[in-house]
Amino acid sequence: MPEQNIFQPDSKLSRSSYISSIQQYEELYKLSIDHPEKFWNNVVKQFHWETPHADSKSFMSYNFDISKGPISIKWMEGASTNICYNLLDRNIKNGHGDKIAFYWEGNHPEDYTRFTYRKLLEEVCRFANVLKMHGVNKGDRVAIYMPMIMETPIAMLACSRIGAIHSIVFAGFSSDSLAERMKDCKAKVLITSDGAWRGEKLLHLKQICDHALEKAQELGHHVETCIVVKHIHRVTAPKPELIEDFSVEMRDDRDFWWNDEMEEAEPSCYPEWTSAEDPLFMLYTSGSTGKPKGVLHTTGGYLLYSSTTFKLVFDYKPGDVYWCTADIGWITGHTYVVYGPLANAATSVMFEGTPFYPDNDRFWQVIDKYKVTQFYTAPTAIRSLMTFGDEPALKHNLDSLKILGSVGEPINPEAWLWYYKIIGKEKCSIVDTFWQTETGGHVITPLPGCTPMKPGSASFPFFGVKPMLLDEGGKEIQGEGEGYLVFSQPWPGMMRTVYNDHKRFEQTYFSKFPGYYCTGDGAKRDKDGYLWITGRIDDMLNVSGHLMSTAEVEAVLTEHSRVSEAAVVSRPHPVKGECLYCFITPNQNEPFDKQLIDELKVLVRERIGPFAQPDAIQHAPGLPKTRSGKIMRRILRKVAVNDRDVGDISTLADENIVEILFNNRPSK
Ligand code: WTA
Repeated sequence: MPEQNIFQPDSKLSRSSYISSIQQYEELYKLSIDHPEKFWNNVVKQFHWETPHADSKSFMSYNFDISKGPISIKWMEGASTNICYNLLDRNIKNGHGDKIAFYWEGNHPEDYTRFTYRKLLEEVCRFANVLKMHGVNKGDRVAIYMPMIMETPIAMLACSRIGAIHSIVFAGFSSDSLAERMKDCKAKVLITSDGAWRGEKLLHLKQICDHALEKAQELGHHVETCIVVKHIHRVTAPKPELIEDFSVEMRDDRDFWWNDEMEEAEPSCYPEWTSAEDPLFMLYTSGSTGKPKGVLHTTGGYLLYSSTTFKLVFDYKPGDVYWCTADIGWITGHTYVVYGPLANAATSVMFEGTPFYPDNDRFWQVIDKYKVTQFYTAPTAIRSLMTFGDEPALKHNLDSLKILGSVGEPINPEAWLWYYKIIGKEKCSIVDTFWQTETGGHVITPLPGCTPMKPGSASFPFFGVKPMLLDEGGKEIQGEGEGYLVFSQPWPGMMRTVYNDHKRFEQTYFSKFPGYYCTGDGAKRDKDGYLWITGRIDDMLNVSGHLMSTAEVEAVLTEHSRVSEAAVVSRPHPVKGECLYCFITPNQNEPFDKQLIDELKVLVRERIGPFAQPDAIQHAPGLPKTRSGKIMRRILRKVAVNDRDVGDISTLADENIVEILFNNRPSK
C-alpha cells in the first residue's frame, strides 16, 4: 500500500480518546502480554465480585499444548459474581437508573420506545422469576429464537441472573437447524415471538418453532416449555393484508404467552452468584465437518473482555449514543449489542428492521434521529448501500458520528473509502474489527484515537492478544509475510470448550499447531507490522458475514434422492462478499433440469436457512478427483469464475472432466 493510503485519526477525536497515542498503546499492550494480571486488575476493580479470586496464581492459567494434557483456559478461578448484577444493579447503584439503556427502533419507523436501566432491571427480574416458575435452574439451557425486540435482551439477562445458559439461534435459521441445536444443548425452554416483520416480509416464528419442537422430539429431545411474545399486533404492519388471518397455535400443556406469565411475576429477583468459570452462554457456529459446534463462553473473563473491548475500541464516553446493527442471534449481537454496552452503562440503539425499509436510507435516517456517535455494521451492508449512490446518505445529517465500525468479513478498500468519506466525512475513525464467535470479542482491531488506518487492514492486536503467523510446517513467520493466523496465549473472553464435546474443541482449534489456538483464517503482515486478514483457509465460506461450511451445504444437497454427489465452493460476490456455487452429479439416468435446481434451493433453505441459498447450481457429470478420490476444489473454484487458467491437472484421475465442467457452466 502506498503511504498516501494511510489515514490518521482526526486530531480532536484523538485528543479526547482513552488511548490517544501509539506509544501509549504499545506500553499498555506490553503490560497486557507480560503481566496480564496487572493489566486486567484495573478492569476487575470496576465490577462487583461476590467472592474475589483467591491469589495471583489463580488469576489466569491455561494449557494450549495438547501433548501436555487436555486444553484448558481459566481466568479468575474461585471468584464469583453475577454478570446481570454487574450490567444492571451495579449501574443503577452508580446513579444510572434513569439513563436510557436502549432506544428501540422498530421495523416500521412509527414504532419506537426506550428502556432505562431501572426499567430493564425490573423486566429482567420479572422474567427471571418466570423462568424459575417453569423450573429453570442454574446450568439449564434456554433456547432463544427471537427477532430484535426488547424481550430478547431481557430473556438473555434473565438467564444470566439465575445462572441459566442461553443458547440463541438466529431467527433466520430453519426449523431443522433450530431443532438440531435444541437437541444438542438439551434445551429445557424455548423463547420466541408469534412473528416479526423484516421490511415487508412477515416471518411466522412461532410456526417455525412448532415444527422445530416436533422435530426435536423426533430426534429424542423433549423441550418442556415454549414462551411466546405477542409482537405482531403491537406494531405497525407494513402490509396489513398479510396479518388478516395471522394466527398462532398454542398447545395447552407447553405454550405460554410472555405477557400472561409476566403479570404474575415479582419485579425483583436475587441474583445467583456464579463462579467466574461457570458457563454464561453458548452459541452455535458452523463446523467444517458439517455439524454445528456449541461455542461455550464463561462468566468472569467474558465480562472483562466484552466491557474492555467495547469501551476502548468504540472509545465509548458517557453521553454517546452507540448503535450496532448486528442481530442478537450472532456473536456480534451478544457482545456488542448486549453485554459490552450494558457493562459500560452505555446508551444504545437497538434496531429491529432492515437497511432497506421503508427506504434504503433507513440507517442514515436512524443515525440522524438518535444522533448516533458510534456506528457498527458489516461490509456486506455497506456494499449493498453503496449501490444506491451517495444521495440517500447525503440527505441526512450524520455529523454526530465519531467512530465507524466494520465486522464479519474483510472490508474491501472501495467500501472502506466510501464509508470513510461519505458516511464519516473524513473525520471518523474506522475500526475494522477482526474476531470470531470463538474469540468472544475483538482480537485484531485499530483503536480509534491512535491507530493510523490502512483501508482493509484490521491492523494490530487488542490488549492481551498475541497473534502469530505460522507456515504450513508450524514455523513462525517473523516480519513481513503470510501464513496461518494463530494465538499463543489466551485472553479473558476466548471460548472455553465446545458444549459437551471437549475433544472436538481440542481437535478443531489446537491440533493443527500444538501450543496455539488456530483461527482458521489466513493473514499477512506488511512492512509496518499491520495485519491483513486474507480469509478462511479451511472449507468455510462467509456469505454476507454468515459463516458456513461447504460440507454442511454438501450434506444437504446430497440428501436429495436424485443427487449422487455434490461439491460446493465459494465464488466472489460484489455485495455478499462470497456466495455458494454448487456442482451436482445426478444419479445415473436422472435428468439435470430446472425442477431439480429449484428443489435443491428449497432444500437448502429448509435445512439451513434462507441466507444459505446457493447462487449457482451447475450440472457436473463428474467431479475433478485425484486418483485417491479427493475432490480438487481449486479447480471447481476456477470453473465457478470461468477462469481457464487451472494450473496443473496431471494428478486428476480424469483430466477431461475439466473441459466438460467449463462447457456446462450455466449461461448467466
Ligand atoms: C471473518 C463474527 C476479515 C473471519 C464476529 C472469521 C473477518 C469469521 C473480520 C468469524 C474482519 C470477521 N476482517 N475477516 N474484520 N471479522 N471475519 O464467528 O473469517 O460469525 O474467522 O464471528 O469471520 O465469523 P463469526
